[in-house]
Amino acid sequence: MKLLITGGAGFIGSNFIRHLINKYPDYHITNLDKLTYAGNLDNLKDINGHPNYTFIRGDICDAKAVADAASGVDAIINFAAETHVDRSILEPGSFIQTDVYGTYILLESVKAHGIRRYIQVSTDEVYGSIESGSFTEESPLMPSSPYSASKAGSDMLVHSYWKTYHLPAIITRSSNNFGPYQYPEKLIPLFITNALDDKQLPLYGDGLNVRDWIYVMDNCEAIDVVLHKGQEGEVYNIGGGNERTNVEITEIILRETGKPKDLIRHVKDRLGHDRRYSIDSSKLRTLGFKNRYSFEEAMIDTVRWYRENEWWWRKVKSEDFKKFYKKAYGEVEW
Ligand code: NAD
Ligand code: DAU
Repeated sequence: MKLLITGGAGFIGSNFIRHLINKYPDYHITNLDKLTYAGNLDNLKDINGHPNYTFIRGDICDAKAVADAASGVDAIINFAAETHVDRSILEPGSFIQTDVYGTYILLESVKAHGIRRYIQVSTDEVYGSIESGSFTEESPLMPSSPYSASKAGSDMLVHSYWKTYHLPAIITRSSNNFGPYQYPEKLIPLFITNALDDKQLPLYGDGLNVRDWIYVMDNCEAIDVVLHKGQEGEVYNIGGGNERTNVEITEIILRETGKPKDLIRHVKDRLGHDRRYSIDSSKLRTLGFKNRYSFEEAMIDTVRWYRENEWWWRKVKSEDFKKFYKKAYGEVEW
C-alpha cells in the first residue's frame, strides 16, 4: 500500500508512522506536514532516510501541494490539525483554516484522484462534556471550544462527502492520548517536564475535570485496525477506559518524578472548560481491537521517556514556547 499521512510530524502522526514502518515493511509512507510550532522532524529522527518513507513539507490548505502528494496513493490518513484548546481560545483563526478548510482540500483531492480510503482522525471533544454515562457514535455533537468546533465542522464535511459523493471516508474519535513526543503544552508532558525542572504545575480550576486517557500506541493500533477493517461512512470511538481527574494525573507524575506536592499551583480555570469526557468504544471492538497497554505502566514508561529524552523536550520548550506562555498568562514561573 502507498499511504499519505498528513500531520505526521506531530505527536500521534509520528508515532503512527513508526508503527506502520515497523509493522508493514512493504508499505510506502509519504508524510505531508507544514511543520507548524507543533511539527517536529526530531519526532521521526529514527525514520528519516528510511527507503519506505518520504517527507514533504507542505500545507493541507494548499490544493496543489496536496494533489502532488496524493497522486498514486491508496489511502490518506489525516492527522494534520491545530490541536491545543488553550491556543484555540486565544486565536481561533488557524483552527478554522486548517481543521475545516484543510479537510475540505483533502476531501476534494480524494474525490479527484479516486483514492480508495480516507481516514479523518478526530476527537471525543466533538461530543462535548458528559456528567455521567458515555457518548456513542450516535450522540449529538456539542463542541465547547473553537478547537472542538473546528473538528466537529470537519467531521460534518467528511460525512457529507461520504453521503453525497460516496467518498470512502471513515472518522475516528479518540480520547486523550499520552506518550512519547507529545508537545509539552498538553497536560501530561507539561507537568512531567515542569516537575523534572522543579517548576510549578498549573492546575486549572479545582483540578477535578475528568479525561479518559489512552496510550498513544493503542490509538495507533486502533487507527490501523480502522484503516484495514473499518466500514466506509462509519465513525469509530477510540477510548482508553482510563478515566482520571487531573489531580489524579498530577499525583502520579509527582510520585514518578519524586517531587513534592507543593509544586502544584491552582490557577484560574480554562474558559468553557469541559468537565468530563467519556466515550463508549464497543463498536471498535467489533472490528477485533483490544487495548493492550495498562494505564499505570504506560504512565511510568512515559515519565521515564521524558526523563531520558531531555534532548527532545528542551529544544521544544525554547523561545517560541515561552513566547506563547508569556502572551497567554503574562509573566509566569513555569
Ligand atoms: P500535534 O499538534 O502534535 O500535531 C499536529 C501536526 O499537524 C503537526 O505536525 C503540525 O505541523 C501539522 N499541521 C498543522 N497544520 C497543518 C497544515 N495546515 N498542513 C499540514 N500539516 C499541518 O497533534 P496531535 O496531538 O498529534 O493530534 C493529531 C490529530 O489527532 C489531530 O487531528 C487531533 O485533533 C487528533 N486528536 C488528538 C488527540 C490528543 O490527545 N493529542 C486526541 C484525539 C484526537
Ligand atoms: O480529548 C481529546 C483531546 O485531548 C484532543 O482532541 C486535543 O487535541 C488534546 O489537546 C486534548 O484536549 P484537552 O483539553 O483535554 O487536553 P489538555 O492536555 O490541554 O488538558 C487536559 C486537562 O488538563 C484539561 O482538563 C485541562 C487541564 N490542564 C491542562 C493544561 C495544559 C491543566 O489543568 N493545566 C494545564 O496547564
